[in-house]
Amino acid sequence: MTTAEFETFRSTRAVHADPGVYEPQDDSWLLCEMASQAGVVRGARVLDMCTGSGAVALAAASMGAREVVAFDISPLAVACARRNAADLGVDVDVRHGSFADAAALQPFDVILCNPPYVPSEAVPAGEGPHRAWDGGHDGRIVLDPLCEAAHGLLVPGGTLMLVHSEYSNPERTEAMLRSKDMTVSTAARRSISFGPVMTQRAAWLEQVGLLEASRDIEDLVVIRADRR
Ligand SMILES: C[S@@+](CC[C@H](N)C(=O)[O-])C[C@H]1O[C@@H](n2cnc3c(N)ncnc32)[C@H](O)[C@@H]1O
Repeated sequence: MTTAEFETFRSTRAVHADPGVYEPQDDSWLLCEMASQAGVVRGARVLDMCTGSGAVALAAASMGAREVVAFDISPLAVACARRNAADLGVDVDVRHGSFADAAALQPFDVILCNPPYVPSEAVPAGEGPHRAWDGGHDGRIVLDPLCEAAHGLLVPGGTLMLVHSEYSNPERTEAMLRSKDMTVSTAARRSISFGPVMTQRAAWLEQVGLLEASRDIEDLVVIRADRR
């Protein structure tokens, strides 16, 4: 699928985000676009971790995945993704849970993940929309467990594709995945203007030295890691 095809997918296939559920954004669509370009989804058993509205899972199904399993810790997101799948008549197995629950269903051919990754002053806790983006002080509260778990969740030769920001330490993501004997590459790096969360958090990010003064763009980074 090209970006233009995703625009069509986005508008005509009507993936709705309920209140309190992450509205698919640039990061969601960049991940889908790169997964499509990589050509790894067709015929694959796919895990969409952190599914939100189910946008990535539904895109994977539309790319010809053999099976799609999706997880989220938010009950609102699970209900929303299930409803979107039902409305579109697409078979996606949406479950409440996270890495340990996915491990019970391994192995997968492909893992796609758009996790929460924005550095946050407080460690995210409880329920609420902030759980979709708050990643703890270094942005890595979900990224690190993902990098730890990916190798074990995948079949040999399987592929992880994940998206996050330049402010969430992509170098650490790559190093962690390499340390798990995976072949790692940057599939995409694309600049976007700050959205509302980054705009609201910019002063704190500057204060802790994660952001240059007056900068109001970020690079989204899609990393691909293949299990040997
Ligand atoms: C940035 S949103 C991405 C949603 C969707 N994949 C997309 O691209 O539009 C991140 C999602 O991760 C979920 N989440 C946060 N921590 C999680 C965890 N430990 N395990 C599973 N899901 C989690 C949030 O509830 C939220 O729905």
